[in-house]
Amino acid sequence: MPSQRLQRIHQLKKSQLPRHVAIIMDGNGRWATERGLPRYEGHRAGMKAVREAVEGAIQAGIEFLTLFAFSQENWRRPSREIAFLMSLLERYAQSECQDLVDNGVQVHVIGDLERLESRGRKAIDTITTATREGQRLLLILAISYGARDELVRVARRLAERVNAGELKPGQIDETLFASELYTRSWPDPDLLVRTSGEYRISNFMLWQLAYTELFTTPVLWPDFTREHLFEAVLEYQKRDRRFGRVSS
Ligand code: FPP
Repeated sequence: MPSQRLQRIHQLKKSQLPRHVAIIMDGNGRWATERGLPRYEGHRAGMKAVREAVEGAIQAGIEFLTLFAFSQENWRRPSREIAFLMSLLERYAQSECQDLVDNGVQVHVIGDLERLESRGRKAIDTITTATREGQRLLLILAISYGARDELVRVARRLAERVNAGELKPGQIDETLFASELYTRSWPDPDLLVRTSGEYRISNFMLWQLAYTELFTTPVLWPDFTREHLFEAVLEYQKRDRRFGRVSS
């Protein structure tokens, strides 16, 4: 639908773009089940949607895109599914690396990477190093990520700093707290997109989403295209963001 694509992207107001869009990619399993396929086929099909989201973000002029690729809770899935997801991530790091470099994408990964096998950590190292000069889009992959765990780590780190005499408890404020998050160098998401019709945050960026606009779509992740991303951004541009004040 190139003409429709042209239309939606042209409807976006460049002056009111969300700087940071985060996506909870959901519905791979249901997509596969609906087609009588094993769940992993849904994950495989979801890779195309990852490409769409990245290219769509670049096309729209979004600066930061966070994708929730694997949660800490996902470690409780059957070991074969975990192994498949990890191998997909490794494949992504290998097969997409050159395209990402060519498109000016800089990749970062957040989460408890200690739980990954060394092969996975190596793939992450390779892709983050290779893309470090990217200037058009910062792509943040949340892998083995859980927001409560992130917050506990911050609390532990601040307690250590107090213990070491570097800090007084009274000096801990929101800015200092945020400076210990994985996301310390980046703005909070302006827009959160969740696919597959679910209305849950699922332990994702609990601190960072405090004032984020939420958009859910019934589309299952493998069917997600850049058009859906533009639709979410258009909806975002209709919102009145008040941040607790009376008007924006
Ligand atoms: C949720 O669907 C999706 C995931 C747990 C994994 C997302 C991973 C990918 C799209 C592929 C790799 C990603 C990158 C960034 C390379 P689900 O399995 O929970 O679906 P269901 O709710 O229908 O069961």
